[in-house]
Amino acid sequence: MTSEVLIAPSILSADFARLGEEVRAIDAAGCDWVHVDVMDGHFVPNITIGPGVVAAIRPHTRKVLDVHLMIAPADPFIEAFAAAGSDIITVHAEAGPHLDRSLQLIRSAGKKAGVSLTPQTPESAIVYVLDRLDLVLVMTVNPGFGGQAFIPAMVDKIANIRAMIGARPIHLEVDGGVTPDTAGACAKAGANVLVAGSAVFKGGTYRENIAAIRAAAQK
Ligand code: DX5
Ligand code: ZN
Repeated sequence: MTSEVLIAPSILSADFARLGEEVRAIDAAGCDWVHVDVMDGHFVPNITIGPGVVAAIRPHTRKVLDVHLMIAPADPFIEAFAAAGSDIITVHAEAGPHLDRSLQLIRSAGKKAGVSLTPQTPESAIVYVLDRLDLVLVMTVNPGFGGQAFIPAMVDKIANIRAMIGARPIHLEVDGGVTPDTAGACAKAGANVLVAGSAVFKGGTYRENIAAIRAAAQK
């Protein structure tokens, strides 16, 4: 149903000791966006990277830096992630009591604003903020780690959110357990951006892995 599906490799599965090189490699391999997973050891049970790392990778690609904040609170860090060179900043609906304010902060920093929903959060969480959104990210695993299995019940959520979005220019992104086996169902349900960590970085060539996900989504 979607004419074009964008592939956003998650650098969570990259070699952190060679991050600049890894970002250049996925760029050269034909990725559309670069997905950056920020974790705080509080909202999710893992710790990854901060704004300094986003700033460090920024010179290595001109592609969209899609920054997924799995942190609570998020608001105190939005300005720093904006200044670091993020293009899209996504916060979790579950991460704070004032989602509308967080989205306003992101847009007032001149960035595209996204909201992410963990698997148990219903789509109704975003009804009243739709007009503040540039992106909705549906988590298809529990956030915190790469390499987990896709939760099939999320396919209905993707379809419901696609219907809620209607004609608005909002990206619908799926994150977690996306492989050539699950990409088709996500795209069919209405997703137009697919994040993939393990499926891009584990084995084979990045170009072939990205192409395989794209082909499965567009079939
Ligand atoms: C999970 C992260 C995902 C993760 C995806 O908390 O938000 O972006 O890296 O990894 P895979 O594709 O391996 O499930
Ligand atoms: Zn992510």
